[in-house]
Amino acid sequence: MRRIITYGTFDLLHYGHIRLLQRCKEQGDYLVVALSTDEFNAGKGKKSYFSYADRKRMLEAIRYVDLVIPEENWEQKVDDVRQYHIDVFVMGDDWEGKFDDLEEHCEVVYLARTPEISTTQIKTDLSS
Ligand code: CTP
Repeated sequence: MRRIITYGTFDLLHYGHIRLLQRCKEQGDYLVVALSTDEFNAGKGKKSYFSYADRKRMLEAIRYVDLVIPEENWEQKVDDVRQYHIDVFVMGDDWEGKFDDLEEHCEVVYLARTPEISTTQIKTDLSS
């Protein structure tokens, strides 16, 4: 069983997110998504449209996702990798190089983002 983990907010779920999750799952057999909590986002000055509970329910309905856990701080990644027996840590390439330190604990993979779509872009387009 090869276990994968990825992190994010996944607000206003869109096809860029789905494609990312699909490619995460293709790296192995079991996909854990660490979903940023509303409190963690508030600390970063971010506020999502959908609450943590709603974002979690939507992710759990996606066939590629096996487990959703909370992402509550920047420091939890090594503990998560250990606790969930993770083999591969995956992020979009907007984070390229940022988590290479985890390579002593698991594989680290950065996947190309899907062009021209983001939560920010959706919000901008709908408000213009
Ligand atoms: N992602 C992607 N392609 C996109 C948008 C996001 O592959 N077009 C990936 C990100 O790289 C990340 C995950 O999806 O690994 C969750 O990203 P998140 O930041 O929640 O979504 P964004 O749409 O990038 O949101 P924002 O505009 O608020 O940054």
